[in-house]
Amino acid sequence: MKQTRLCQLLGIEYPIIQAPMAWITCAELAAAVSNAGGLGTLGPEAGAKTQEEAKDLDIVERCLREQIRKVKTLTDKPFAVNFPIGWGKQKIFNERRITVAIEEGMPIAIVSMGSPELFTQKLHDAGIKVIHIVVSVEQARKAEKAGVDAIVCIGYEAGGHIGADELPTFVLVPQVVDAVEIPVIAAGGIADARGLVAALALGAEGIYMGTRFLATYECNAHPTMKQAVIQAGDTSTIAFGRRTGISRCLKNAYTARHMEMEASGATFDELREYERSGDDLGGWRRIPAALVDGNITHGSAACGAIAGMINEIISAGEVIRRMVEGYEAVLAKLR
Ligand SMILES: Cc1cc2nc3c(=O)[nH]c(=O)nc-3n(C[C@H](O)[C@H](O)[C@H](O)COP(=O)(O)O)c2cc1C
Repeated sequence: MKQTRLCQLLGIEYPIIQAPMAWITCAELAAAVSNAGGLGTLGPEAGAKTQEEAKDLDIVERCLREQIRKVKTLTDKPFAVNFPIGWGKQKIFNERRITVAIEEGMPIAIVSMGSPELFTQKLHDAGIKVIHIVVSVEQARKAEKAGVDAIVCIGYEAGGHIGADELPTFVLVPQVVDAVEIPVIAAGGIADARGLVAALALGAEGIYMGTRFLATYECNAHPTMKQAVIQAGDTSTIAFGRRTGISRCLKNAYTARHMEMEASGATFDELREYERSGDDLGGWRRIPAALVDGNITHGSAACGAIAGMINEIISAGEVIRRMVEGYEAVLAKLR
C-alpha cells in the first residue's frame, strides 16, 4: 500500500486510523489496530466502568493511566489518545487528562472540539505529535497556523458530532487539501478499500474510521449496539440536533422525539434537558445508555451513514487486512 507522509509522521505502516469513540475505544481495540499496522486510539471515557466513574476527575485520571499502560503492554507500536476539549468541566477534565497522558508517554494526541491554539505547544514540548479535528477549510487553516502536525476532516456522513455546515467528505477533503500543506486525513463514510482509494484520490494521506471499528470483536460496545450497526441499512442514520450541536446517530425514539421538539419550537434549554436525562434510560445518560448499556431505543446511538455497508462483526486486524488487500484490487480494477 502507498506510504504517505502520514505514515512517516506517525511511524505507522498503513495510513489507517481507528477513530476515538467515547466509552468504547479501549486499550484492547487500540492495540489491535496498532499491531495490525494502523493507528489505534483511546477514547475519552476508555476504561470507565460506570457513569459515576466517568464523572470523577480522580478516577478519570486513573483510568487513563491504566489504559495507556495496558496499550503499552499489548503493543510496542504507536497509538493515540483523544481529547475532546469542550468547555467548562469538560475542559478542566481534558487539561488534566493531557497532563497524565504526557506523564505516561502517549506518542500522539487527537484533539477535537476545541481551539488548536490551546494545547499544541504543550504537546509539542513533550515530543507528542498533534492531530486536530476540523469540519471546514477555515478551521483547517487555523489548525495549520497553530502548528498542528496533521488534520482530520470530518464529513457530514460521519457518526457522532459533525459540522454545522453539513459538508460531506467528498466536498470537504479536496478543498482542505488545496488549502493547507500538512497531511490531511479523511473521515466520514469510509468502511472499505473503495473508500480508502477514493480518499487518497481526493488528496488525503490517510483515513479515519469509527463506525467500521465499532463492529469489531475488540470494541467494547454493548452487543446490542454492534448488532444494530450490522443490521442498519442505507437510511438507518440521521443527522439531528441543529440547535444544540449536530450529530449523526441511528434513528430511534430519541432522535424522533428530539426532532419533534425542535420542530415545535423547544428552547435550547429544553432540548439540552431532554438530551441529558430521561425516565427511559435506567439512570444512564443518552450516549453511554446506547453504547454501554445497549439501549438503542432511547439512547444516543452515534453511528455513521456507512453502517448500511457494514454487515458483519470481524476483528480489528481483519478490518485492516481487508483494507490493504482490497486497496490493490481496487487499483487493479481502475487500471
Ligand atoms: C459511537 C461513536 C462515538 C464517538 N465518540 C467520539 C469521541 O468520543 N470523540 C471524538 O472526537 N469523536 C467521536 N466520534 C466520531 C469519530 O471519532 C469519527 O469522527 C467518526 O466515527 C468517523 O466517521 P465514520 O463513523 O463514518 O467512520 C464518535 C463516533 C461514533 C460512531
